[in-house]
Amino acid sequence: MHCTKMFFGWMMVSVLFSCGPAKNTAGLQEDGFVKTGLSKSEEMLRHMLPAANKKFSARTGAYPRTTNKSGELVTTSMYDWTPGFFPGSLWYAYEYSKNDSMKAEAIKWTEKLAPLQTFTQHHDLGFMMYCSYGNAYRLTGNEAYKKILVNSAKALSTRFNPTAGVIKSWNSFKSWHGNATYYFPVIIDNMMNLELLFFASKVSGDTSFRHIAVTHALTTMKHHFRPDHSSYHVVCYDSTNGKVVAKETAQGYADNSTWSRGQAWAIYGYTMVYRETKDPRFLEMAIGLSNYFINNKRLPEDYVPYWDFNANEAGYTPGVKSHANKMSTLYRDASAASITASALLELSTYVSDNQSKQYKTAAVKILRSLSSDAYMARPGTNGNFIIEHCVGSLPHQSEIDAPLVYADYYYMEALLRYQQLQKGGVLFAGN
Ligand code: GLY
Repeated sequence: MHCTKMFFGWMMVSVLFSCGPAKNTAGLQEDGFVKTGLSKSEEMLRHMLPAANKKFSARTGAYPRTTNKSGELVTTSMYDWTPGFFPGSLWYAYEYSKNDSMKAEAIKWTEKLAPLQTFTQHHDLGFMMYCSYGNAYRLTGNEAYKKILVNSAKALSTRFNPTAGVIKSWNSFKSWHGNATYYFPVIIDNMMNLELLFFASKVSGDTSFRHIAVTHALTTMKHHFRPDHSSYHVVCYDSTNGKVVAKETAQGYADNSTWSRGQAWAIYGYTMVYRETKDPRFLEMAIGLSNYFINNKRLPEDYVPYWDFNANEAGYTPGVKSHANKMSTLYRDASAASITASALLELSTYVSDNQSKQYKTAAVKILRSLSSDAYMARPGTNGNFIIEHCVGSLPHQSEIDAPLVYADYYYMEALLRYQQLQKGGVLFAGN
């Protein structure tokens, strides 16, 4: 009785405060969403290019990230964590359309990032360089791009601490509680940067990159997860002895909650590390993390999660300084959904037939939702970003119910992966 009451209470809260999509996601032709999604994505990118090109400043590089409240394009510096996604999306559009003008734009936006190959101020080199130059190299075979990627891996490796066995994410992290500041924080997102290191090892023959990637994945496995495979966002280490000194959140609801995009990064990250190592411990991890996501009682029917799996739930308390204290609306984060869809499609190729079907079905469910007009914007709206209803960081009161460039990137990636699987192709050739 008590449980039923709690469940009913939760449903009421969801109905009253949930924000965003309520439109019907049915009605799309079987698989028709793939072609429609990809051609609409290409069209949106074409519409965005004039504004993006106008905003680019030769000094810092301004890269599309989101929109302001009036729906106008907002860019960030290329030294922020997201500049790789716009060129990456252009590469995916080119991969789909084979259109030479799209390729020319993809090259232009990728090559502007060359100065980042020696950048060492945060851990996001994988996102910045592998999504841009990685796709550029994959689709063109240009040897100059390979060198830039290896240099980027070198830059990222400088942040590895052998005592702690992890790559430092940010130079410091200020807790949402009181005044504590930590100087060796590692965030779950960091799993995504390892793909660059695996790539660099393969093409350069330098096994130290691979060693760093595997060590980081193993250490993270030890400290970043709870027994139910939910993830912490930030784990802070003592760099002198490798001990964990705090487990908190930066972008999630509470320290003990599960930030949806963090869980998505973890699913994608461990799936990719399994691809690169074939170590069954990583596969087990990817499966556990995925099951937490897709079997979660708080996952809405359309499989696009709320921004945090535990937002507004009893037993979870945001830090005193977090904006999450003031926010009762349960926003969706479509970026977490698109990242997860892409990861589940890959994971579906490594597991038993039954599991494979389950992961593919979940991924398709997400993609059909994102391809419907509940989440997909019309050309000329949403700053010409493809997907609506994402959350950048609610605790920072930033990018709430907004488009995000990485939601679009992983949406396109997932559609291309799905298309590849439907053709009976393999997603990744063996090592
Ligand atoms: N890597 C930062 C984020 O997911 O917002």
